[in-house]
Amino acid sequence: MSAVISARGLTYAYSPATTGTVLSALDLELAPGEIVVVTGASGAGKTTLLTLCGALRSVQQGDLRVLGRDLRQLGGDAQRELRSSIGFVFQSHHLIDALSAGQNVVMSLMDRVSVAEAMARAETALTALGLAARIDALPSALSGGEKQRVAVARALVREPHLLLADEPTASLDDDSADIVKDAISLAAKRRSCAALVVTHDARLLDIADRVLRLVNGGLVDLRPRSGRSNLKWMSSIAGVEAP
Ligand SMILES: Nc1ncnc2c1ncn2[C@@H]1O[C@H](COP(=O)(O)OP(=O)(O)OP(=O)(O)O)[C@@H](O)[C@H]1O
Ligand SMILES: [Mg+2]
Repeated sequence: MSAVISARGLTYAYSPATTGTVLSALDLELAPGEIVVVTGASGAGKTTLLTLCGALRSVQQGDLRVLGRDLRQLGGDAQRELRSSIGFVFQSHHLIDALSAGQNVVMSLMDRVSVAEAMARAETALTALGLAARIDALPSALSGGEKQRVAVARALVREPHLLLADEPTASLDDDSADIVKDAISLAAKRRSCAALVVTHDARLLDIADRVLRLVNGGLVDLRPRSGRSNLKWMSSIAGVEAP
């Protein structure tokens, strides 16, 4: 099967005069079922890359194909259709405040299945993320980590072929981070869901097939060379020198 994401020479600037070029001739290939972690300094352009791949932002320069579609050629309807086949976990959750955790997940299935089926699947997804007891809670009554897990359940319940996740474990304790890791890893193994995961969280390295660092607008491979200690590898991901 062809690449889930194929970016060639992707270049993006919000406002060239003030903030300069954020992405500069960036190349990226993501295969089905592959989990790729992207790290990088704050402001490096990680979220910008995710929003471009998710058709939430228009391509300015370069080639970008996602799930077989050329993003430069897509009209509004085709963009919406593509977005609906991608699972998104945003940095700020984006849950609907007036709806319970369960209803937030159900909502993401309403265009696909019956209400009864959506409720059953939502319950299964939330239970898998350790939230069985919080299904009826409103987002205002959920902790940051719980909201994060609802966002992951909402993204994965649609069984996407591509997951775009922005810091999905940022506010999670180790147990909850493990639950999210397992959910992403299971989706990759069982359904060949490819995942592009932006994170500074070294705990996610366990499930990464590749680790890339976004620097100067491009991606650098941080795969450990043989003989290199884990400590040095982890340090390079965090952007600091190993002792
Ligand atoms: N809507 C916008 N308009 C103008 N500039 C923006 C916009 N969004 C982001 N930027 C700028 O583009 C650059 C990249 O931002 P981006 O959000 O992609 O970084 P990031 O790597 O995700 O950072 P962080 O780790 O802090 O989330 C930053 O300099 C940011 O200030
Ligand atoms: Mg960001």
